[in-house]
Amino acid sequence: MANIKEIYSAQVIQKRIAELGKEISADYQQLEKPVVIGVMKGALCFLADLVRNISTADPLQIEFVRLASYGGATESSGTVQTPYLDLPNIRNRNILVVEDIIDSGRTGRFFLDYLRDQFKPKTLRMAVFLDKPSRRVVDCQPDYTGFKINDLFVVGYGLDYAENYRELPFLGELQNGGEAG
Ligand code: IMP
Ligand code: MG
Repeated sequence: MANIKEIYSAQVIQKRIAELGKEISADYQQLEKPVVIGVMKGALCFLADLVRNISTADPLQIEFVRLASYGGATESSGTVQTPYLDLPNIRNRNILVVEDIIDSGRTGRFFLDYLRDQFKPKTLRMAVFLDKPSRRVVDCQPDYTGFKINDLFVVGYGLDYAENYRELPFLGELQNGGEAG
């Protein structure tokens, strides 16, 4: 296995998500029928933990899409692919997008623009587990952020390197570009 240095433990992550859940619960208390859209695959752990920390007057509807901008490498390809973009009619709803990480901002920007255009949401916000502000290429500001991190390539808690390591319960930095050692 490649060398992976822990950045945030499972416990630290859970504590932060409990805080985010409280904040989102308060903000969405008065909003009718909120829809949470998870961006697969990276948001899998974050979404599962976050929704269990949200409590609102109206129950949540949960949907998924799958977007991809990375190939197998640690650099974004620059174009956003949409392997699965099948959403029900969520016109005029209160939408919360849940993403693993905002890096260049291309995926987030693309998806927010798409949703605004297709569904004219009443409100549209984005919650991200991680933000790498120093890497931004296009404008994209998350409304809720788990952690801001420096320009590191991270894996675990849903995030992958070439489809590996999503299952790790902690967030770690991949050392030596993924070479074993
Ligand atoms: P963006 O479109 O450049 O903002 O990239 C967003 C996508 O790139 C995320 O949803 C991740 O799948 C992937 N990504 C960006 N940085 C990392 C990282 O450090 N580790 C793993 N995946 C990453
Ligand atoms: Mg990925």
